Amino acid sequence: MNHDNNVTKDLNIGIAGLGNVGEGVINLLQENSELIEKKLQKKITIKGISAKNKGKQRNCNIDSYTWYENPLELARSKEIDVFIELIGGEDGIALEVTQTAIESGKHVITANKAMIANHGNFLIELAEKNKTLLLFEAAVAGGIPIVKLLKESLSSNSITKIYGILNGTCNYILSSMENNSIGFDASLKEAQRLGYAEADPSFDVGGFDAAHKLSILSSLAFGTTIDFSSIHIEGIEKISLDDIQAAKENGYKIRLLGISEKKLSGIRQYVEPCLVSDKSLISSIDGVNNAIVVDGNFVGEITISGLGAGSNPTASSVVADIFDVANNSTVSNLGMPIHRMKDFKITEEVIDNNQYYIRMLLPNIAGSIANVTKSMADHNISLSAINQRSDGKNNTNDYASVTIVTDVTTNISVNKVLDQIAKNGQVKGLPTIIKIQQT
Ligand code: HSE
Repeated sequence: MNHDNNVTKDLNIGIAGLGNVGEGVINLLQENSELIEKKLQKKITIKGISAKNKGKQRNCNIDSYTWYENPLELARSKEIDVFIELIGGEDGIALEVTQTAIESGKHVITANKAMIANHGNFLIELAEKNKTLLLFEAAVAGGIPIVKLLKESLSSNSITKIYGILNGTCNYILSSMENNSIGFDASLKEAQRLGYAEADPSFDVGGFDAAHKLSILSSLAFGTTIDFSSIHIEGIEKISLDDIQAAKENGYKIRLLGISEKKLSGIRQYVEPCLVSDKSLISSIDGVNNAIVVDGNFVGEITISGLGAGSNPTASSVVADIFDVANNSTVSNLGMPIHRMKDFKITEEVIDNNQYYIRMLLPNIAGSIANVTKSMADHNISLSAINQRSDGKNNTNDYASVTIVTDVTTNISVNKVLDQIAKNGQVKGLPTIIKIQQT
């Protein structure tokens, strides 16, 4: 790719959005300016800033910068080479300023995963048409340089699977349930008190934030267009302390994973809570950290982990993108020009072979478990472990909490068994089913 407006001079930037990430970017550029200038052999100058509220108390010094009331004016300004979009939100003003900046010939850097997941194909095509860069390292996994890793370092490898912990809020909640033996609600409250979860946490705990990031990773890994809409999304709301403890007794931890796999007929993308072996590297990722595992056909398996959110780590990724612009990067925005990418195709394969964890409430009467295991045997499902929690806590007079770990079987067989049990009235409520992810 040739950029008409390759930058050979000092680089002038404009920043729209001065929340946590914007503040971090300003602090990083100020604090490390000498180091940055030495490495780049050019100066990065903030020529303009814009945010909702000029008078707001901020954790950074903005006194010397030109204030733009209207971010669109900044996006069009002849003063800048690079427009940094840190406003957030899938569309609205964030999308408008991004489009305007690209059409005005600016390079754009964004941390906005929702916008890239939903409008990335359009915006990247627009950027390629205008010969500008649209960079989004900060949109995936905060400070972890996974976009560059896929786009550059691993670009010669054929990748068939990429998965990881892509949401720090969920990872904090699950690991704190496990480490402090508390339920989901208490753990969420604690996460909110510490500022790790939003007042309305549904976007994070519902798996949507992780899915946005996964759609971008799939595209980079497999050379296909970004497709958010086909992701199967399950959040962590249904996970109880009982599940966490039963998993632990069986040698597993529960993590919310985003998984994307290339199959013969297409790609399968899903975000869901999974059991992972407590001996795996990914199970050791605690708290607000993120981790991504990539399997390349020449490099083998790589795991990269670090802080997946927060002002400073995310700012580090934004500034990494500023370096790419300053160094006149000619790498395509998604690792290859968008017109060379294959259209995303969802896999037609419906059979999923896995071990499964199942928890259900069964009547506390003779033969309850026997009925379930008989049904499993009828569907050729072999059991790896079964236990009835005996601490009495979850066993009411009438029902007992029973957990089963199956050997490898299919999702289809598991669903048939659960249908049959439900039909026979042998179970109370809906069983919890969690896939065991081979790690
Ligand atoms: N809220 C996200 C997380 C960070 O908890 O990982 C920004 O995507």
